[in-house]
Amino acid sequence: MNKQLRPAVIAGNWKMNKTPAETVALINEIKPLVANADCKVICAVPFTGLTAALEAAKGSNIAVGAENCHWAKSGAFTGEISADFLTALGVEYVIIGHSERRQYFGETDKTVHDRTRAALDSGLKVILCVGEQLEDRENGITTELVRLQTKIALKGVSADELKSVIIAYEPVWAIGTGKTATAEQANEVCKAIRNLIAELYGADSANGLTVQYGGSMNAKNADELVAQPDVDGGLIGGASLVAADFAVIVKAASK
Ligand code: 13P
Repeated sequence: MNKQLRPAVIAGNWKMNKTPAETVALINEIKPLVANADCKVICAVPFTGLTAALEAAKGSNIAVGAENCHWAKSGAFTGEISADFLTALGVEYVIIGHSERRQYFGETDKTVHDRTRAALDSGLKVILCVGEQLEDRENGITTELVRLQTKIALKGVSADELKSVIIAYEPVWAIGTGKTATAEQANEVCKAIRNLIAELYGADSANGLTVQYGGSMNAKNADELVAQPDVDGGLIGGASLVAADFAVIVKAASK
């Protein structure tokens, strides 16, 4: 982290977990534990829990996010949720391009770009996910791949709009596997992302960008990860569903 230059952000990605009632209970449990955080705290919850989460988080330092949005304003897209629907609820953040969406729901770099565009147009802040598969890492193309994913997603995004973007580096092989990237591996790729942003937007934009690490980040390894200069927090899956663990991670980023 380098808090002089950019905010540290800890975001929970609840994935397909928690009913609205369970959402209220978990937010209420997290609230007092993170009340004194010296970093941004976000809970990204399923669409059906957004209203409940917003209500429960009201007046606290917890911001609420969605886990996806569609690229169109409205129309014949059965089962989809537009960015405008989210802003209308009062949602502040949206996760775009998570590897599970890429893996199971046909998400491509192009649709990640389109969703990012729609989210920014609607006034949402975006947590843009990028990351390599194990095979990519073994083939030595991690940096190139992550650069390409980032570049395509941000095509046409202005320097001013970039202020509403957080990039989350999530190596796919580390998600839900208990295999965390080493702090050095995480920092190396987060730094490569920042270097790309410097090339595309200049040093000020690069220095101001929050780049998170995600993938089996937990109460035990958070300290070491966020101590890295280019790791500005985390996108947390499993551990974000346990209030005490999430709070320890928030505490690590509050140092
Ligand atoms: P885990 O923390 O469960 O590995 O999930 C990470 C993730 O996918 C966050 O978006």
